[in-house]
Amino acid sequence: VLSEAADDINVEAYVIGGFVRDFFLKRGKAEDIDVVAVGSGIELAKKVSEKLPGKPPVKVFKTYGTAMLKIFDLEVEFVGARKESYTENSRNPEVEQGTLADDQNRRDFTINALALQLNKKDFGKLLDPFKGLEDLKTQLIKTPLDPEVTFSDDPLRMIRAIRFASQLHFKIDQKSIQAIKDHAERIDIVSKERIVTELNKILESEKPSVGFKLLHDTELLQRILPELTHLEGIDEIDGQKHKDNFWHTLEVVDNISLETKDVWLRWAALLHDIGKAPTKRFHKKIGWTFHGHEFKGSKMVYQLFKRLKLPLNDKMKLVQKLVLLSSRPIAIVDDDVTDSAVRRLIFDAGDHLDDLMMLCEADITTKNPNRYKKYHNNFKVVRNRIQE
Ligand code: CTP
Repeated sequence: VLSEAADDINVEAYVIGGFVRDFFLKRGKAEDIDVVAVGSGIELAKKVSEKLPGKPPVKVFKTYGTAMLKIFDLEVEFVGARKESYTENSRNPEVEQGTLADDQNRRDFTINALALQLNKKDFGKLLDPFKGLEDLKTQLIKTPLDPEVTFSDDPLRMIRAIRFASQLHFKIDQKSIQAIKDHAERIDIVSKERIVTELNKILESEKPSVGFKLLHDTELLQRILPELTHLEGIDEIDGQKHKDNFWHTLEVVDNISLETKDVWLRWAALLHDIGKAPTKRFHKKIGWTFHGHEFKGSKMVYQLFKRLKLPLNDKMKLVQKLVLLSSRPIAIVDDDVTDSAVRRLIFDAGDHLDDLMMLCEADITTKNPNRYKKYHNNFKVVRNRIQE
């Protein structure tokens, strides 16, 4: 249908972007397809709709000159090929009509610039001016143009590079890494909503620490989640040390990701220790303490969600609750399991007892085998008491 419609109105049309990338990677089921028309994307969308049974409605986004059509459960987005030049503050790109090559030039990565021709004459022909297919094979995230240009056109792409590296287990080209390090501050002009979309995708990847480590190494993390980077480092006084709570946190996130795909539980793991930076104290007699870090942490969750424009809803409350209670089961284990402590835990955790127990088990990252064994055995005892 797409092919016929494009030929009918005599425009060149291509499938481009994520669909083509995932097609070559044999990755998952596509939910959306991007179609580029060398001409009017809106006109092509209307023609396609005419040819479909029931003529589904075309949603037109006038300001962007794009159109959307739902074909069964596939969302197809139609855009005219463009040549974009972004203004300094990058919010309002000036858009003019361009060729397919112009459109491929302005895309984020070589693997996302692959295009497949739709017109009958050359149906299925791959247009790959930046050797994106080779980068797919060698598993490399690389910008089509100089990374300085691609990243300054849209600084969100710095995080997107890391998101794709984390999702696909790809490496990022060294020049791109350097460009991110050199201009991490550019992320400050990007909207929080767009940043959060990418952060969620990193958190949803198989091993989120891959993405967070890259965010850390490129110094993007201290700009978007300073609460986390404040946890980094080990202080030593009178020969007493505490653990590095930043690297510990990444381990906990990976551990919980083996157990659940729920992104909010992964957020809880990411934030479970954030109260430790502001509550850290050293006492001559007892050493390092983080008294009240759970209370502080759960307040910080609210502030952080608000700053990132994440919804302040039940999911936020769930994260707050898990942060607030995160060290309770471990404390019960440490002080020997008493019935009253278990009863109180059951009461306070309410509907989220299983989530809390999962988080706490993920939190046990001690390398000391005796301690590790003790925790696991005692956790079993707590679980049994809960079930009784
Ligand atoms: N794109 C871009 N720069 C951005 C965002 C998107 O060049 N900042 C281009 C890329 O070609 C990308 C396409 O627009 O492939 C679609 O973007 P998006 O839907 O965000 O990502 P996908 O590549 O489709 O990946 P996913 O489906 O995993 O979100």
